[in-house]
Amino acid sequence: MEISDFVAGLPKVELHLHIEGSLEPGMMLELAKRNDIPLIHKDEAALLEAYQFTQLQDFLDLYYEGMSVLLTERDFYDLTWAYLEKVAAQNTRHVEIFFDPQGHTSRGIAFETVLSGIRRALDDGERHLGISNRLIMCFLRHLSEADGFATLEQALPHRDEIYGVGLDSSELGYPPSRFERLFTRCRDEGFALVAHAGEEGPAHYVQEAVDLLRVQRIDHGNRAMEDPALVARIAKAGIPLTVCPLSNVRLQNVDRIENHPIGRMMAAGLKVTINSDDPAYFGGYMNENFQAVMDGPNLSRDGVAIAASNAIEASFATPERKEALHAELQAYLAA
Ligand code: ADE
Ligand code: ZN
Repeated sequence: MEISDFVAGLPKVELHLHIEGSLEPGMMLELAKRNDIPLIHKDEAALLEAYQFTQLQDFLDLYYEGMSVLLTERDFYDLTWAYLEKVAAQNTRHVEIFFDPQGHTSRGIAFETVLSGIRRALDDGERHLGISNRLIMCFLRHLSEADGFATLEQALPHRDEIYGVGLDSSELGYPPSRFERLFTRCRDEGFALVAHAGEEGPAHYVQEAVDLLRVQRIDHGNRAMEDPALVARIAKAGIPLTVCPLSNVRLQNVDRIENHPIGRMMAAGLKVTINSDDPAYFGGYMNENFQAVMDGPNLSRDGVAIAASNAIEASFATPERKEALHAELQAYLAA
């Protein structure tokens, strides 16, 4: 994919990125060797060959296998730092990244090991690359409410290092309503709230995320489009959506990029943002996702600029940081 100068130079904000989904095949193999972890797929070609998904679960099976190479604090640091260097080169200026602690604690890795490695890299990213950040802890929805509460207990001593909580993993059959009490508790603890909804699951799950979990952003949200009344409500409430174009195509939630609903979502008044989800698995970081929707052609230059501005607005950055990001974007667009 040829990245245009416009996309490459655009100051960007990423709001939907699973740090474990930024584990590139090369690093996966390197860490497997370093940590003496056996992998089913033995080389880069075999891994890339396996990255052909027909649905979310195909991907998740490989995603959980892939993260099994992450053991030490240094591993989590290296993973996060590699992501930050990549997106810094793409002029990404603020990131809000997800991590899946249950994918690690279930393998016997200490919560603190995971958190410390990621946080240390984020702090270095802010200092050395000028990328501000927020960290969001996701609960795995295929696991129980009790498991979620236990994970929250592990997070509470580190309240100041984790800005928000989210909900991810297998969607169909795991509606948001299962986690209403957990999210109420997280809200009481002062966490920002987001949830994956309407990626593969029906519009009704998006409604539950809004009404029962009371989320401040919806991750994906594509299938809300099947319920125009719901779309109107979300648009009126100004609840942003973190859309992930290449992910949607690779997981076959959209048959081809030309048919991606992002243009229609924006036309319906939804506050849409553009993000990468799991870039190592879906063929692209921020630039590639922005370029894909421009080539689609789903969005014009103006549409992409609106999405970039929406992401600043929809972020959990401080008001001062938002103002600086807006100024940077406006200066770029004016030039
Ligand atoms: N975990 C990592 N990527 C995900 C996605 N796209 N949907 C749900 N859970 C995920
Ligand atoms: Zn996601």
